[in-house]
Amino acid sequence: MDSDRDLFEIAKRALGNAYAPYSRFRVGAAVLTREGNVYSGCNVENSSYGLTVCAERNAVFKAISEGARAFDTLALVSESSHPVSPCGACLQVLSEFTPALRILLCTPDGIRRTTTLSELLPDAFGPDDLPR
Ligand code: THU
Repeated sequence: MDSDRDLFEIAKRALGNAYAPYSRFRVGAAVLTREGNVYSGCNVENSSYGLTVCAERNAVFKAISEGARAFDTLALVSESSHPVSPCGACLQVLSEFTPALRILLCTPDGIRRTTTLSELLPDAFGPDDLPR
């Protein structure tokens, strides 16, 4: 079994559920937890545009809500012809839980780039930066 390929396929399936009538830019994500569970998410837009939530945050919040706390890999697929990175807000949310997360950047054709959260968000602010 190729788990990266499986994670990509799950993210791509989630893209099909995207609610993106305003941008028409559909995004899907899937996270693999350290325990081996997978949670997926899609972007959910709103007529009050600022309330939109990205696919990555929906996937991670689903996982956290089910008790997960640490992740191994996230797959992100959009309809762009080039692999896009998670937005800054999503990078920060992901960093809260797994600063060294593996990230698969995908187009609908497949995995185009394998990177890490620490590469995309070096010197991230985190829980250890808060005063005790
Ligand atoms: N979007 C995501 O879901 N993830 C990203 O990493 C980038 C942007 C969504 C938000 C919005 O629904 C649409 O893409 C256009 O910005």
